[in-house]
Amino acid sequence: MPEPEVPTPKKVLAEKKHAIPPELLPHIPIKELFEGYIERNVDKRLARAYDLDKYPLTQGKQGTGKTLGHQYYAYKRGLPMFLFCCYEDFILEKLFGDRTIKGGDVKFQETEFTKAIQNPSLILFDEINALSHANTIQFNTLLQNRCLFIKDAEDGRGKVFRLHPDCHIGFAQNPKSRKYVGGNIRSSNFLGRCVHITYPEFTKEQLDQAIIKRFPELTKKDRDMFIAFYGGIVETIEQGQIPIDVSIRQLINIIDFWIHGADLKESLEDGLICMTDSASQPKSKDALWRIAQAVWKELMKK
Ligand SMILES: Nc1ncnc2c1ncn2[C@@H]1O[C@H](COP(=O)(O)OP(=O)(O)OP(=O)(O)O)[C@@H](O)[C@H]1O
Ligand SMILES: [Mg+2]
Repeated sequence: MPEPEVPTPKKVLAEKKHAIPPELLPHIPIKELFEGYIERNVDKRLARAYDLDKYPLTQGKQGTGKTLGHQYYAYKRGLPMFLFCCYEDFILEKLFGDRTIKGGDVKFQETEFTKAIQNPSLILFDEINALSHANTIQFNTLLQNRCLFIKDAEDGRGKVFRLHPDCHIGFAQNPKSRKYVGGNIRSSNFLGRCVHITYPEFTKEQLDQAIIKRFPELTKKDRDMFIAFYGGIVETIEQGQIPIDVSIRQLINIIDFWIHGADLKESLEDGLICMTDSASQPKSKDALWRIAQAVWKELMKK
């Protein structure tokens, strides 16, 4: 007789209570930052990765909520957060401190970052694809060993800095695409140390929810029109293969202008439509205007 199959029992993680030193408390993201925030499934995936001490690398188009997602996790867990925006020459070592000459002696001044990594915290390295390959290598060591030797520390004697078990490290990037030309593709030894969370576009329902939360005074009729316009733009960009990306950011900007008294045409132009000029795609402008005219009849007289 075959043995009855017993399903693998699943583990449940207990939520941790973190003791944060007073000087790091001001770095915990504040509630006000998330007033219009809507929780999506991707937030749960990011939280799971962090809770299990992985190194999440969030990726996706502009405005899909990557950076804010990491901040939201830090807020929910009460973790001080440090955000570093990477660039080609960004050197991880420099975050630990710097040498100065005092009275002829070499002095190494440790930074707040060293305090942060030795406590429960969240360190986000944003725009990681801007970093040069050579400067990524130190990250591999830090992630692998959870410690880094800084040779200038201790006034030149060198010191090993160890990460606190609850120091979380995450990354975010816009992968290279037809629409996003900046940045490098990270090598597989770096990518292999991360877990990869791709940020989806906001669905129509999520946009609706986010707009209600952010602009509660907006009537349903107006909200539907702005969302219909945005949906039409996304479709037109897709079908016409226009090399720009739009996101909830542009939708919010348009409504922000309009609700603060700007006329509709200027709100649409400054919030979204003139992005075509910035991206050297002026010919696409008419296609986007046609969407606006289909939603708001008053724009026919443009
Ligand atoms: N979960 C959410 N609920 C409501 N609004 C959100 C949410 N996530 C993001 N937003 C809105 O989208 C904007 C852009 O989010 P965020 O800066 O995190 O995008 P990003 O993916 O990091 O973009 P980029 O690739 O350009 O850095 C936020 O300022 C906020 O207005
Ligand atoms: Mg970002």
